[in-house]
Amino acid sequence: MKNGEHNMPVPRHIAIIMDGNGRWAKKRGLPRTAGHAAGAEAFRRTANYCRSLGVEYLTVYAFSTENWKRSQEEVSGIMKLLGKYLQEALADMEKNHVRFKFFGDLSRLSPELQKLCMEAEKTSSAYHDVQVNFCLNYGGRDEIVKAAQQAAMDVQKGMIQPQDITEVLFSNYLYSKDVPDPELIIRPSGEMRTSNFLLWQSAYSEFVFMDVLWPDFQPEHLDEAIREYGRRNRRFGGV
Ligand code: IPE
Ligand code: IPE
Ligand code: MG
Repeated sequence: MKNGEHNMPVPRHIAIIMDGNGRWAKKRGLPRTAGHAAGAEAFRRTANYCRSLGVEYLTVYAFSTENWKRSQEEVSGIMKLLGKYLQEALADMEKNHVRFKFFGDLSRLSPELQKLCMEAEKTSSAYHDVQVNFCLNYGGRDEIVKAAQQAAMDVQKGMIQPQDITEVLFSNYLYSKDVPDPELIIRPSGEMRTSNFLLWQSAYSEFVFMDVLWPDFQPEHLDEAIREYGRRNRRFGGV
């Protein structure tokens, strides 16, 4: 779609690896958790801006299956911030009109956090300004393995035959069922890797890597990434 004010084609689905919080904090002599708090603000800003641009889906990587390796102090700080964010999001639901979905294995989160996630999904299910897919304890490999297990169980139950498992059918076992693949994936912080994000869904995504640290990410950075996306020649294997 075209956005009148910005006059650039805006992707339907943008995904962001929200990286660089720790380095942002370190530069300021602050604890890493302060970086995560600033990162939560950057997320709020970016989600609002995406909504104003008419982006339909925003998928954000908030906590990976590998992030449990961090110190207990940092992990519990992140979990606390997530709880606080979700509580505030629930209170602002009627104002923001964001539909929340959670991608990831939530069973490893605290029961309180799981409850907040469930509540946020339920309360926001009718909103349709923008859908935010929040990736929590998410790993692309874990998602694919869990999908394979589910498909195998359905074969075992006789609901499907092995040869029924096509790319389309398999996609329906992923967290992202019903969501189109992201056209654009942005990774701030200067790292140029996927770190296990949307492995299946990113087959033909355009990647934009940026040096800005996530807490410093502004609407102008999103504009810049969208402009870069607009310059790409997407061939999907054709000519
Ligand atoms: C991203 O920022 C947030 C999470 C992974 C939870 P980091 O915490 O990875 O920040 P850097 O990469 O260390 O700067
Ligand atoms: C990816 O960032 C995960 C999130 C942003 C949630 P990491 O900081 O964990 O990735 P690596 O360790 O640099 O690959
Ligand atoms: Mg990082």
